[in-house]
Amino acid sequence: MARNKVTIVGAGNVGATCAHWIASKELADVVLVDIIEGAAKGKALDLAQSGPVMNFDLDIVGSKDYELTAGSDVVVITAGVPRKKDPVTGQFPSRDDLVKTNQSIVGEVARQVAAYSPDAVLIVVSNPLDAMCHVVLAESGFPSERVIGQAGALDTARYKTFIAMELGVSVRDVHGIVLGGHGDTMVPLPRHTSVAGIPVRELMAEDKLQAIIDRTAKGGGEIVGLLGYSGFYAPAAGTIEMVEAVLKDQKRVIPSAVYLTGQYGYEKLYIGVPAVIGAGGVERVIEMELSSDEKAMLDHSAEAVQSVVAVLGY
Ligand code: 2OP
Repeated sequence: MARNKVTIVGAGNVGATCAHWIASKELADVVLVDIIEGAAKGKALDLAQSGPVMNFDLDIVGSKDYELTAGSDVVVITAGVPRKKDPVTGQFPSRDDLVKTNQSIVGEVARQVAAYSPDAVLIVVSNPLDAMCHVVLAESGFPSERVIGQAGALDTARYKTFIAMELGVSVRDVHGIVLGGHGDTMVPLPRHTSVAGIPVRELMAEDKLQAIIDRTAKGGGEIVGLLGYSGFYAPAAGTIEMVEAVLKDQKRVIPSAVYLTGQYGYEKLYIGVPAVIGAGGVERVIEMELSSDEKAMLDHSAEAVQSVVAVLGY
């Protein structure tokens, strides 16, 4: 069987950490691409040199060009300008402020990777996430099932972590799901949250649960506030959960930013919903039964996404 190959575009913190998780799980050969050639080559070489110690055997290379990426099974797109403190105003841009800058960066990346890996599944990580999925779909020309956004995997991981911390139970036993756009309007679903099957509301007071929901929605901003730049361990982990599901055709049910064509009542919009992820990318969207309150929150989130997508001009 041919070895799997994953290209990661953007050798910043998220991209490099994706490469690191792929190596530690020995999932695939890796090509790390960055316009800063030294960063791509240097991080790839450094990671490759950990193989003899960490006991993985993979080809891990870096490049500023796309030739080496040819024939990738999965391409992870992390390129773009991250949320960083403005040195003059001291303010952090919102994810949405990044939209125009990252549209041109991510659009060019999408065209390049599509040309070299026409059969790949593309996993979008760049922000503003849901809008960047629209950019990659338009610029790659790929069918929408092979252009997926990583957001729900991360947001759900954050939600589960906070619940486990609050209850003093293993994260392994916390189950739940977060829908919607990757922004402050995301929709964690307490009605679908359990600890080993026990509904979370039997275990936690409503005010504590609401505080966790709020903290989850602002989870990216909390890390930016602490670090001065975006988080990367959990964003990369969420991404690799999806990469692994594709490479191993796992049919994992992962909340993902998916192009909806009528499901949940949305047309031609990327938004986070439960999706079956396998070798073909998005193999199926699961349409959950939502209460009117839950649907109203999802509608609110969809409107927020739509307002950013409108800026793209597609
Ligand atoms: C996050 O949620 C910045 O979107 C990134 O951590």
